[in-house]
Amino acid sequence: MARLVLPHAALRAAMSKRRPRIAVLISGSGSNLQALLDAQDLGGDVVRVLADKPEARGLDRARAAGIDAVAVSPTDHPDRPTWEAALTDAVVEADPALVVLAGFMKILSGAFVTRWPTVNVHPSLLPAFPGGHAVEDALAWGAKVTGCTVHFVDEQIDHGPIIAQAAVTIAPDDDRVSLHARIQAVEHDLLPEAVRLFCAGRLTLDDRTVRVAPAS
Ligand code: GRF
Repeated sequence: MARLVLPHAALRAAMSKRRPRIAVLISGSGSNLQALLDAQDLGGDVVRVLADKPEARGLDRARAAGIDAVAVSPTDHPDRPTWEAALTDAVVEADPALVVLAGFMKILSGAFVTRWPTVNVHPSLLPAFPGGHAVEDALAWGAKVTGCTVHFVDEQIDHGPIIAQAAVTIAPDDDRVSLHARIQAVEHDLLPEAVRLFCAGRLTLDDRTVRVAPAS
């Protein structure tokens, strides 16, 4: 049974006292992180960026924006639980209201992803093409339309309640690179919009359906 920690009255009350603090986890380029950093009126502040690889380009993007950026690498820890404990400590220090997985390629335990409200951006229209090869899988399937999904994270992979989705048409001559580039262009609008809705306290959960309250 999936457990979720989601915006509720107490969280909205806490958030009303201060702008929500956001921790972003990345593994690579960090173009979605950049979209968050560039977003106008996000309603919250990216206060710490964490990567599982010291060479992740997104760490440089964060530092260029004056944001605390830290690598917590599995190779520096004897086993996965110890690594995740170190990552947890690094997130706890940031005291976030929201954790964003923006191209974070490591699987996290249920205990981690349910400790904070956590959202993920995934390059397909879930539940189609979950997993780490969503763009290739859509092409191999011969799909004509794919897209991207921003969802709350639960204890199953690419499974939690969907906050927002957008479709991308697959062209006959698309390859992984061309299709992923068009999907990412859409992600760069969709992820900030989902985070904006969260920070505004407009997201609630009805079973596994995310409801968006009207702007007040
Ligand atoms: C994105 O396409 C996202 O959907 C997937 O990983 C990619 C990360 O890209 N989970 P970037 O690091 O944000 O450029």
